[in-house]
Amino acid sequence: MDCDAILKMKDNDCIYVMQSKHSNSLQEDVQHGLLTVPRSMPPKYFYDEYGSLLFDRICDTKEYYPTRTESKLLEDHALELIELAMPRHILEFGSGCSRKTHFLMQACENLKIDCQYLPFDVCEEVLYQVRDEYIRRYQWSDVTPLIGDYTAGLDDLHRPEGACLYVFLGSSIGNFDRQQAKEFVAEVAACMLPGDSFLLGVDRVKSAQILHQAYNDKDGVTGEFNLNLLNVLNQRLDANFDLNNFKHKAIYNEVLQRIEMYLVAESRQTISFNALDESIQINKDEEILTEVSHKYTYDQVESLLTDAGLHILKHVEPDNAWFSLVMAHKPL
Ligand code: AVJ
Repeated sequence: MDCDAILKMKDNDCIYVMQSKHSNSLQEDVQHGLLTVPRSMPPKYFYDEYGSLLFDRICDTKEYYPTRTESKLLEDHALELIELAMPRHILEFGSGCSRKTHFLMQACENLKIDCQYLPFDVCEEVLYQVRDEYIRRYQWSDVTPLIGDYTAGLDDLHRPEGACLYVFLGSSIGNFDRQQAKEFVAEVAACMLPGDSFLLGVDRVKSAQILHQAYNDKDGVTGEFNLNLLNVLNQRLDANFDLNNFKHKAIYNEVLQRIEMYLVAESRQTISFNALDESIQINKDEEILTEVSHKYTYDQVESLLTDAGLHILKHVEPDNAWFSLVMAHKPL
């Protein structure tokens, strides 16, 4: 078989999920977010190949507890969670490198549940790697990547036959504002049939100091991750941000119970976006909001799911209550 044929086969094995509600293009996000004050950009643009690598490195820093904490919860409870869901399919939103999904797949293997894995992500290259890795490791399984943006509507999501476990880990739900988070859970609930379940990982409200450290690691990995957004804009829009002229800032907003990440201009500068034929003046100390990460209390986590008509089957947390892993289902 020649290379083209192999590539075609690969293409046939995955599904493109079309957007079903309006979602801004990069150009629109820059027009609305960067060319006017206050300046902001959605966090999804962090994740080019280098940004995805940097996020992986954040997960390994001493200060960033969420990944480690959630992994431990999954490791300890995967068997029980899979027994509750008895899934024929596991569909994961924003699966990325699918590092933590192994716990669920291993539990399926131990319980002899033949289950299809459907990782859903925007990054096609990473999806192919994940598919190859999972097919090799779980030969009994079928892996079907879903390529698309889960923030762009779920109407086109192909609904597999048989019990489906929807998974949304890593507290990615924290990137939505509170209203959007409710709407997203409602969209997932609308996809679900009775007997389907939803596993959600959410970072909890905690001491400002712990949170501050988690987004200001000593080695500056989070800072590099934040600044990489400017590289992405330089590449994709032929812009001329100088990364040396911006500083990483992450603070915990105790009123809104969320982390806010900014890039702060260290001097006055002119930025041109050649691909858009636009340029802007950024003043010294001006800030670009690059990410918000909302934290939830135990009760807020439960409301997220119950407000969408789902019933909570299991809610686990570590002794320090830093993270929640919740399994809910759609009642008959
Ligand atoms: C993508 C929401 C899980 O807010 O904790 C980590 C991304 N940004 N450090 C988070 C992130 C900076 C992360 N989530």
